[in-house]
Order: sequence, then structure tokens, then C-alpha cells
Amino acid sequence: MIDLRSDTVTRPTPGMRRAMAEACVGDDVYGEDPSVRALEERVADLMGHEAALFVPSGTMGNQIGMRLVCEPGQEVLCDADAHVVTYEMGAAAAVFGISTRTVVSGTGRLDVDALIAQVRPRGDWHLTATAAVAVENTHNRGGGLVQPLGELQRLWEWSRGAGVAVHLDGARVWNAAVAAGVDPATYGRLADTASVCLSKGLGAPVGSVLVASAERIAVARLWRKRLGGGMRQAGVLAAAGLHALDHHLGRLAEDHAHARLLAERLGVDPAGVETNIVRIDGVNAPVVAEAAKARGVLVSQVAPTRLRLVTHLDVDRAGVERAAQVLAELLDR
Ligand SMILES: Cc1ncc(COP(=O)(O)O)c(C=O)c1O
Repeated sequence: MIDLRSDTVTRPTPGMRRAMAEACVGDDVYGEDPSVRALEERVADLMGHEAALFVPSGTMGNQIGMRLVCEPGQEVLCDADAHVVTYEMGAAAAVFGISTRTVVSGTGRLDVDALIAQVRPRGDWHLTATAAVAVENTHNRGGGLVQPLGELQRLWEWSRGAGVAVHLDGARVWNAAVAAGVDPATYGRLADTASVCLSKGLGAPVGSVLVASAERIAVARLWRKRLGGGMRQAGVLAAAGLHALDHHLGRLAEDHAHARLLAERLGVDPAGVETNIVRIDGVNAPVVAEAAKARGVLVSQVAPTRLRLVTHLDVDRAGVERAAQVLAELLDR
């Protein structure tokens, strides 16, 4: 099977498995796991933040990250297609009493003026105060689009004056950085809290890292434990993350080239393919997905008329060529 459903489907490489097997470990709830410590320091540094916390998933990273900058009864404002409000099962409300309000962009592309127009001030007798905005980079449902740096800078500058925090859902910030040719810290420094994933394009089996100030990360550690996310000899997982940062960060450009190749072969405008995600609109998604599966290619149906293809570490050029051929035939392109 050529699995293009998501970049989360990758399996640890032999080198990564060796790194996991040989990892130095300790009890991380006691703060004694050297591999977890090393990973946290590495990611904090890469993202231009003071401190970091290893968490089991991007969902936990996002939810704790938002809780650090938003009190129960306040709101987080974000795009209507953001992962934090679409795919996290209402966690902000269900777990933390945080309200979310959304702005429809249709594309996922950050529109700072549209967001600012929706912000509700603190201290009003009636209004739910906007404590934070959440930005997703790259934007998953937006087809892996990279948020424009200028807009992120504008949001950050405005937020300092407005007293509104910025949370970055940076599950694929690595892809954004590679595509834009900037350091991940360029994006990290434009957020108060940021969650980044090791288990998407980087190919680690498990884990995300939340970055913020040292003071906020100390609070995040309490939340992680409360939520049951305190892990013991988690160094075996952190070692996979460190290996991924050493060996898989640089190769993300290859996934991006594969996505562009798919787009070209399938008649999708390659200009709209900025990273490792290709959206195909205007198709009978269940029918095409089923037929592709029967011919050895797995794709995601993200809407009745939309398919999503995601390139990653476990699909090489030959796999991409084969998938393109199968899908081109099915789509008659
Ligand atoms: C943009 C984005 N944020 C967050 C997540 C959540 O990550 P996890 O599946 O590790 O909870 C995902 C997962 O696909 C994602 O695409």
C-alpha cells in the first residue's frame, strides 16, 4: 500500500529504532530522564523559546498551550478550519472551560484584520474576553499552506499592544520553515506558546513539544500531570524525536517536491501546493478513495468532494509516481 492519508502514518526507521533502544532514560515525572531533557532543550532552542515540555500529542500541546494564555470563561479566537476547533473534540471547552470563536477565511490563510475585528476587550460586563488567538502553520485543512511571515509579524506587534496572547499550532512548523527558507525560531518568536509535532513529517512515532517561557512551562508541567500525560522512562520516545531532528528535518523539501509532482500529474495548480499536502477538489471523494484503495493507494476524504494527499518519509519517488499514475487514471486526468 502507498499510504498518502497523512504524514502521521510513518514508521520508525531502523536508525531511529536503534536510537530508541540505546536511549539513556530515567523517570521523567521526577524530571530525571536525560533524553527528554535533551529533547526539551533542543526544541526550546530551535523555536527561540526559554523552555519546553515533552507531551504525548499535538492535541495535548495545543490544549495546554492555550490554557496557559487563556482562563476559563475567556475565549480563544481562531480560523474556523483550525485543528484546535475541528479535530480536538471540543477539548478547550470540555476540559478547560475555554470558549472558542472562529473567523471564516475559507482558505486557512491568516487575515489579521479580520481577526482583530472580532477581538472582544477584557473588563466589559457582558462580553467574553478574547485572551488569545491561535494560528496554525502550516494549515492542515488549508492544504499545508504557509502563513505569510509579514502577517504573523503584524499580528504579533498588534497583540503586544492589545494584551492578547498568540498560540501557535506548529504541528508542521518544520514544513513551513523549510518551505519559507527561515529558521523555525522565526515563527516561534512570534508566539507566546507553541506546540510542535515530532510525529508528523519528522517521522517519530509519538510526541510533541510545547514551548513557552520558563514560568509558563512550569505551569504546563502541572497541567500535563493532571491530564495523565506525565510519562516515566519517556527517553525512548524522546530519542526518536532527537533522531528525527538530526536526520529528517533537512529532507522535508523532498516531501514538498513530491507533493508538487503529484499536483502537476493530477492537474492541481502546483502554486497552491506550498508544502507536503495536496488537496483535490470537485471529486466524488468516497468513490475515488475506494477505487484507489483497491489499486494500492490510500488517500483521505476530508469532505464529500475533497481528497487530501500527504507526502512523507515512507513514500519515495517511485511510490509517488505510482500513486500519481493510479489517481490520474481514476480522475481521468
Ligand atoms: C495542524 C495540527 N495540529 C495538531 C494536530 C494534533 O496532533 P496529534 O494527532 O498528535 O494530537 C494535528 C494532527 O494531525 C494537526 O494536523
